[in-house]
Amino acid sequence: MKNFVFKNATEIIFGKNSERFIGSKVKKYADKILFCYGGGSIKKSGLYDRVVDSLKENEVEFIELSGIKPNPRLEPVREGIKLCRENNIKFVLSVGGGSAADTAKAIAVGVPYEGDVWDFFIGKAKVKEALPIGVIITLPATGTESSNNSVIMNEEGWLKKGIATGYIRPTFSIMNPELTFTLPAYQTACGAADIMAHIMERYFTNIKNVDLTDRLCEAAMKTIINNVEIVLKDPENYDARAEIMWTGTIAHNDLLSTGRIGDWASHQIEHELSGQNDIAHGAGLAIIFPAWMKYVYTHDINRFVQFAVRVWNVELAYTSYEDIALEGIKKTKEFFQKIGLPVTLKEGNIDESKIEEMADKCTNNGTQRVGQFVKLNKEDVINILNLAK
Ligand code: NZQ
Ligand code: ZN
Repeated sequence: MKNFVFKNATEIIFGKNSERFIGSKVKKYADKILFCYGGGSIKKSGLYDRVVDSLKENEVEFIELSGIKPNPRLEPVREGIKLCRENNIKFVLSVGGGSAADTAKAIAVGVPYEGDVWDFFIGKAKVKEALPIGVIITLPATGTESSNNSVIMNEEGWLKKGIATGYIRPTFSIMNPELTFTLPAYQTACGAADIMAHIMERYFTNIKNVDLTDRLCEAAMKTIINNVEIVLKDPENYDARAEIMWTGTIAHNDLLSTGRIGDWASHQIEHELSGQNDIAHGAGLAIIFPAWMKYVYTHDINRFVQFAVRVWNVELAYTSYEDIALEGIKKTKEFFQKIGLPVTLKEGNIDESKIEEMADKCTNNGTQRVGQFVKLNKEDVINILNLAK
């Protein structure tokens, strides 16, 4: 196990009706806030009205930034920064999915910075401060409710890039599984794939003697596998929704990374898929992850055997370790298929003629490698994308 520092200061307020505390929670930080949300799901579900009522009851003024799209764009971030500055706003609240939260996070780092916020995403500047952020999350997927990441898309060049800094971990996140009852099956499945991917990125590591975090990862993956099929059949099953929601947070709050080094190549490759083709991040991961696994499994066949046996219950009586490892990969792909996700570029309507372009972007024109478990160059990325056809 490697040395590590673990600090995740986000306060989690979890459970039925937890959003009713929003006004009093926010009031501790500010009297006036920016309120970010997406394309209207929170209005349809009635959550918007409950949030507004609670803010008003607690005499919190708010300015709205609405219409944030999936694969959130840079322009609303710049608009939000302007609104905060013009109105002397010192707190950002996001209500909705990861795209609204990531927009809020990017605004939070942009307000105190004199240059253009995109500088942080291209490594031209380092985050040194940020406004505090609060989140009500309605889609278990990204783990953004307590992660140190924000991922934003710049339409100029269709560049989807992320930042990672402790300054953007939300001060609090409100998580009510009932708020996820309205999720369409496809978004539920995309969320499950993203959660699985966050765990698998950490699971496939070269660090030895990480038994506790291996077992935690396996438990988290099994929880998703067991519960996603329940909610797809019974969307208002509170207990199953709650299991998925909490696992989504645990998957990406860095607990499962303690003492180990994760891979993250599949995420980097996927960001090119959703950046170029505007598909859901979870769907892109369902396409890339099984292809990545097929490409790298021989690097540490024992780890893939452990994954197959412990996560997918593959019997050790198969003829060879290789067969067991491959069976685990097959079961991963079948799981994504079964929950209704695309598992090939074709099924995801990804333009195959852009494979080289995506590999170029992902590796900074072939100058950088991606991933840690196996460090991949541009040719490797092209091979993985070809395997995903
Ligand atoms: O926009 P609205 O109307 O709210 O509808 C959204 C959107 O259409 C809808 N939705 C959300 N909650 C709902 C709901 N519909 C009905 N009922 C509900 N309860 O779902 C659609 C997708 O929402 P979005 O916020 O885009 O999805 P998600 O939470 O999966 O976020 C994806 C983004 O996060 C990034 C991804 O790359 C992608 O851009 N990621 C962020 C990470 C982080 N900050 O830590 C890590 C991840 O790996 C990921 O890269
Ligand atoms: Zn992800």
